[in-house]
Amino acid sequence: MATGIALITGANKGIGLEIARQLGTQGITVLIGARDEKRGSVAAEKLQAENIDAHAVQLDVTNQQSIDAAAKHIESKFGKLDILVNNAGIAIDNAPPSQLDMEILRRTYDTNFFGVFAVTKAMLPLLHQSQAGRIVNISSGLGSLTQNSDPNYEYAQIKYLAYNSSKTALNAMTVQFGHELKDTPIKVNSADPGYVATDINNNNGTRTVQQGASTPVRLATLPADGPTGSYFDDNGVVPW
Ligand SMILES: NC(=O)c1ccc[n+]([C@@H]2O[C@H](COP(=O)([O-])OP(=O)(O)OC[C@H]3O[C@@H](n4cnc5c(N)ncnc54)[C@H](OP(=O)(O)O)[C@@H]3O)[C@@H](O)[C@H]2O)c1
Repeated sequence: MATGIALITGANKGIGLEIARQLGTQGITVLIGARDEKRGSVAAEKLQAENIDAHAVQLDVTNQQSIDAAAKHIESKFGKLDILVNNAGIAIDNAPPSQLDMEILRRTYDTNFFGVFAVTKAMLPLLHQSQAGRIVNISSGLGSLTQNSDPNYEYAQIKYLAYNSSKTALNAMTVQFGHELKDTPIKVNSADPGYVATDINNNNGTRTVQQGASTPVRLATLPADGPTGSYFDDNGVVPW
């Protein structure tokens, strides 16, 4: 049975909830980050009913006060964090690049990039208290510039400037934090969950949340000799 404390952002539903479930089933205490307190506690109760040690933590990744309060709460209750899964994300593009509203671009980056940075920065002191800190950034295959620029890529038609590029920027964060932390026990990786049926795509995805959570959970529980600063899906390494 694994032990430890994991914080999953945006864990009240979708892939985040399933990541929490799979980590919790392994014996890890899971903190259900949710911007809405009620949705967070309903999700935590659902997992508790499955014998998982789940606790709701109010966490809006775009609100520094909320992030600081969450870090303070985790510090006083647990004194450390073993796993941070930066899962909260939005996809709100509604036009091709030339027609895209600046506001959509900014809002997307606020959550998918600045939000991840702010949460990671606030939680790092707690991750340093762990013997085996793990950070998993939930990216997307749409964040891969190699795939985006390949006309034969399965999703080559999906050119969401805000969403895709926010995940490219997130991947850059993985590389940079991975480098900074390479001589510590903390590992930082990006995960592409694949095209998963959730609210983000009106449940049009072809994979289940169980399938989507598998690579994130593997990266969250990597052994000491596992990789860092890299990008994976279920088939292995994804090109940047
Ligand atoms: N589904 C896919 O095919 C797919 C593919 C590649 C990558 N991903 C990535 O996987 C992650 C999870 O997405 P999903 O598919 O599970 O979508 P989802 O069901 O829409 O879940 C998104 C989660 O993020 C939360 N969230 C959004 N903004 C937030 C904020 N400011 N603060 C805190 N939480 C916030 C949502 O909370 P509320 O319930 O309050 O809105 C929700 O819990 C995202 O990063 C997404 O980009 C998904």
